[in-house]
Amino acid sequence: MYKNNLNVEGVGAVVASRDPDTPGGSYYYHWMRDAGLSIKAWLEINDNNLDTVKPELEKYADWVGVVQHKPDQNVDVRIEPKFYIPSGDPYDGGWCRPQTDGPGLRAMAISKYGMLLADAGEDTSRLWDLVKLDLEWVTANWESNGCDLWEEVQSNDFYFNRMAFVYSLNVAADFAEKIGQDGGQYRSVASNILESVRGHYTNGYIYESTNRQQDGAVIHSIATFGEFLYGPTSSEAADTIKVYAKTFCDEYPINREEIAAGIPGILIGRYPGDNYAGGNPWQLLTAALAEVFYLGAEANLKNVKDNGDFVLDPEANESWMDLLGLAKGATMMELALRQMEAGDAVMTRLYGHVNKDGGRVDEQIDKNTGEQTSAEGLTWSYANILHAMKVREQAVTIKGQVLSRLYM
Ligand code: NOJ
Ligand code: NOJ
Repeated sequence: MYKNNLNVEGVGAVVASRDPDTPGGSYYYHWMRDAGLSIKAWLEINDNNLDTVKPELEKYADWVGVVQHKPDQNVDVRIEPKFYIPSGDPYDGGWCRPQTDGPGLRAMAISKYGMLLADAGEDTSRLWDLVKLDLEWVTANWESNGCDLWEEVQSNDFYFNRMAFVYSLNVAADFAEKIGQDGGQYRSVASNILESVRGHYTNGYIYESTNRQQDGAVIHSIATFGEFLYGPTSSEAADTIKVYAKTFCDEYPINREEIAAGIPGILIGRYPGDNYAGGNPWQLLTAALAEVFYLGAEANLKNVKDNGDFVLDPEANESWMDLLGLAKGATMMELALRQMEAGDAVMTRLYGHVNKDGGRVDEQIDKNTGEQTSAEGLTWSYANILHAMKVREQAVTIKGQVLSRLYM
């Protein structure tokens, strides 16, 4: 179903969903953000295997080459949110514009593919041109105003967007350096952006923007871009999860009902007070939360693999120990195993709400009934669920290595 949403109509577009009739209108468009993130996940769940990914990725690159040069009556076409399929014309109706996360995420996806081609000794010049054009916009305009990823509020300082810039610029710099180009400018802009974003951790959690404080987009950022700041092992991540878990528990009756019934895990959504399709948990964000736990487990298991197990310093690890209920004297291995369990609890809870629909995963889960709702078969949902499972698989491999070492 995921693959079926790539290279749509043979033109390389990634459809947000094939559902023509959702509470937000048709989803039969190529959204730049959904596509960049879903292509990244597609590469990674396929182990970055060039032969596997090449057919869809060549077409995606063709598509990007077309849409980057479409005339646009509203904004610079690089910061348009969505495009018609198959023409690639920017959507011309009223919409929240601009959306500035698009060009960075697109350049990031193309850069990841470019590195695979370069490793195989193939020509990457056309991909490099695509990346440069998008990042020219980012390096010059990263402080400018735009809509959030949920296409609702305006700010020039969204945590998600800034962390997406940081991540994307660094990936593009890796690509540049691999092909003998200069990645220095991308790295230096990325480090300026990184400094600008540290202040988002305040009052015990990371906030998305001043006008939209608690937002599941932050959890997505920790999972996807967190290697550069406040990553999945950080105390800031644990503190943020703690605050958000309470918020989304209060927000969604289904969470409270299942907790009362003794079912572990939690479903999270966009933000408290959301009213899109009633304001519900989101599959793609719940999967991102599970991924944060799996990434934390993976990193901590690596630590044990390299250094042996050791008792946690209760001060340095206070946030994680508190979040996962670990007592003084607990070890790094115990923390890692608790993180795995927490990830599994979240994924199992999620599975319980999507497993009746024959593998189809939608955008939202009704906060009262627990049934899937809103856009059907959302590409970004598949991307995040499969990506979380991929990270879990990696963590399980390391766990096996650690256990055989510890008990041999
Ligand atoms: C409002 C929703 O909250 C937003 O995410 C969506 O994209 C637009 N409506 C259009 O469907
Ligand atoms: C609405 C979501 O709020 C937005 O983030 C997404 O890009 C579109 N739907 C398409 O999936």
